[in-house]
Amino acid sequence: MIITDHNAEAGAATAAELGEKAEFLEQNVTNPDRWSEIIAHVEGEYGRLDVLVNNAAVTVFGSIADVSYEDFKRCYTVDVDSIFLGCKTALPLMSKTGGSIINLSSAAAINASADLIAYNSAKAAIPMLTKSIALYCAREKNRVRVNAVLPGTIMTPNVRSVIDGTPNPAETEESFALAQPVGHMGEPDDIAHLIVYLASDESKFATGAAFAVDGGLSI
Ligand SMILES: NC(=O)c1ccc[n+]([C@@H]2O[C@H](COP(=O)([O-])OP(=O)(O)OC[C@H]3O[C@@H](n4cnc5c(N)ncnc54)[C@H](O)[C@@H]3O)[C@@H](O)[C@H]2O)c1
Repeated sequence: MIITDHNAEAGAATAAELGEKAEFLEQNVTNPDRWSEIIAHVEGEYGRLDVLVNNAAVTVFGSIADVSYEDFKRCYTVDVDSIFLGCKTALPLMSKTGGSIINLSSAAAINASADLIAYNSAKAAIPMLTKSIALYCAREKNRVRVNAVLPGTIMTPNVRSVIDGTPNPAETEESFALAQPVGHMGEPDDIAHLIVYLASDESKFATGAAFAVDGGLSI
């Protein structure tokens, strides 16, 4: 298993936690050349690529009135272009043996917020990007499946730091929890279990789909 991140310290620590089977490679997912190097490394070391999880993203806050064009483009480059690049670079190798690509979108692809124009629209692009690539792969009969995952609000370190950065963290945490009709946030494992299913052959008939795991947020 290969873990990549542009945060070398955190990525290496995660790989170390997983033990000998995990290898960490530093990667900025917006860099096409680095994608080529990573896939060449996978081919050289392992000979095949079974699963690609496109997880990296940034959350850019701001409305149409106050988000800068620079920040808007940064959100699209990290959240959308990275998935295009990852799929494009990985497909020639993955197509040789078949595999599964899992793209992280968000419930924010469905539910708009006035102050989240960049993230809402970038995450909304991902299910369609996923469908297009899935249809291409299905027609090529290359046994590559491509699916999108749309989490609700999950208590990850990123969400914790967003909450802690607000003027009243307790109030923010409650409002984040209540956004889900079930009345609470999800846990990272709620999403991890779906990703394991999509990575496995148990999901062999699923492709081009958008799977919401969001406590009812997108109802
Ligand atoms: N946590 C949530 O509530 C939630 C909800 C819906 C969707 N998501 C999506 O799930 C995924 C994971 O979310 P998270 O909360 O764990 O976020 P996170 O910010 O904790 O993790 C994202 C990771 O991507 C890395 N990253 C960012 N930019 C990068 C770049 N240019 N190159 C390489 N790595 C880069 C970060 O270093 C970080 O390790 C994201 O796609 C996010 O949009 C999260």
